[in-house]
Amino acid sequence: MAVPPMHSGPKRADSSQPSSRGTWGSKLGFILAAAGSAVGLGNVWRFPYVTGSNGGGAFVMVYLLCIVLVGLPIIVAEVLIGRATQRSPVAAFRALSRRGGPWMLVGWLGVAAGFVILSFYTVVSGWSVYYAYRAFFGGFTNLGASEINHMFDALVADHTRNLGLHALFMAACIGIVISGVRSGIERWSRILMPALFLMLISLAIYGCFLPGWRKAFDFMFAFRFSQLNASAILEAMGQAFFSLSLGMGAMITYGSYLSKETGVLGAATSVVALDTFVALLSSLVIFPVIFSFGMAPSSGPGLVFKSLPLAFAQMPGGYVVAICFFSLLVFAALTSAVSLLEVVSSTFIDLYGWSRQKATLFTGCVAFAFGIPSALSGKGFFLTWFKSHLSMSYFDLMDNLASNWMLPLGGLATAVFAGWFFRADHRDREFLVATKSTFRLPWLYLVRFLAPIAVFVVLLNYTGILAKIQHLMR
Ligand code: PFF
Repeated sequence: MAVPPMHSGPKRADSSQPSSRGTWGSKLGFILAAAGSAVGLGNVWRFPYVTGSNGGGAFVMVYLLCIVLVGLPIIVAEVLIGRATQRSPVAAFRALSRRGGPWMLVGWLGVAAGFVILSFYTVVSGWSVYYAYRAFFGGFTNLGASEINHMFDALVADHTRNLGLHALFMAACIGIVISGVRSGIERWSRILMPALFLMLISLAIYGCFLPGWRKAFDFMFAFRFSQLNASAILEAMGQAFFSLSLGMGAMITYGSYLSKETGVLGAATSVVALDTFVALLSSLVIFPVIFSFGMAPSSGPGLVFKSLPLAFAQMPGGYVVAICFFSLLVFAALTSAVSLLEVVSSTFIDLYGWSRQKATLFTGCVAFAFGIPSALSGKGFFLTWFKSHLSMSYFDLMDNLASNWMLPLGGLATAVFAGWFFRADHRDREFLVATKSTFRLPWLYLVRFLAPIAVFVVLLNYTGILAKIQHLMR
């Protein structure tokens, strides 16, 4: 089927043949790589503790609604934009809109978000590497609560170790991305993702035999209406964005390597389903352990790095379970960090005609340098100065900036673009490839109205405007 010509901006390197950019080997290759991007620290580390802090069932319910009504339409929009243009975000928006104009800025915002997230994501990923290493050498056995707490606090405050781990993890990402789309990203996703699923399912089966399983299941799925408040709803939306890697062009980039014959809706739905499955199952691994050992589910970010190792230290088979769990965390983090680096480096490949080697090495090294203050945020200047002037550490500032502002803004803009500014005949033709026409209208309504409005409300909340409106209405 002929695709209408795209509006081309000034002749630049992005007019290079798409085939020279690389493609996925198959639809499954795309699904595993995109699920690799989506499934990350957000699922295994963040989702369980945010669920725990928000009281469980009600939060899970709202999260699932956000995934289906906001996340799915936007991920479809992103993959569609990528597949339609076969270009990374900036070049994609330039190709689809007249001379790019303001829409190119949306692409650049995504690249900037990818860069910022990558710079601190590799720091937390480094902690998982350290914990996997400690688990392997039996590091939690016979340790008590204070020793395990101290282990985490000491790690976070250890500048040399954090820098080393940050460098190691970034080097691994560079190594994978530099090898290319198919022989780097896809190959590693094909190895790491099935290994991750296998370990997760084994751990979940183990969890079923723990005394706290029933309580954990109730905690996760019993819907108690009284727990639902505005902030939980808004947090659920933010989590959905982060978890599905939305709003920064990761799915545009991965979609750009997808063959023109692959249906976008089916592929995107598989990615969303896998991501949600891993988030729920991770919680069904973590909470039975937490409840069996009488710990609090609401202990915040330390849930995985403090509470869980303490339980591993005491439970039968804890040595093996700890190795499985922390390796799983490393695998999940690696495939996500790789996608962040890919967004940034593919931009330089597409826009400036750089070789993959040059683009990856350059962007990886700059992201490493940019992440140094995050790696040093556990103690000293980047903690104390930033805390006293901005009330959060440098690390938290980066996380806040990217997750609470840049991703929702990028997601909002992408939904508006796909719903209102993407030429209708071109968009519909792209959507209908290997996809039933009955899904077109529901998708269009979600991406035009519900998704942008929902994200807009989240942004209003972050600016504090929502609280002011609520106050005025009282
Ligand atoms: N989705 C990843 C996670 O859940 O950990 C994080 C992430 C990766 C966000 C890639 C955005 C992105 F582009």
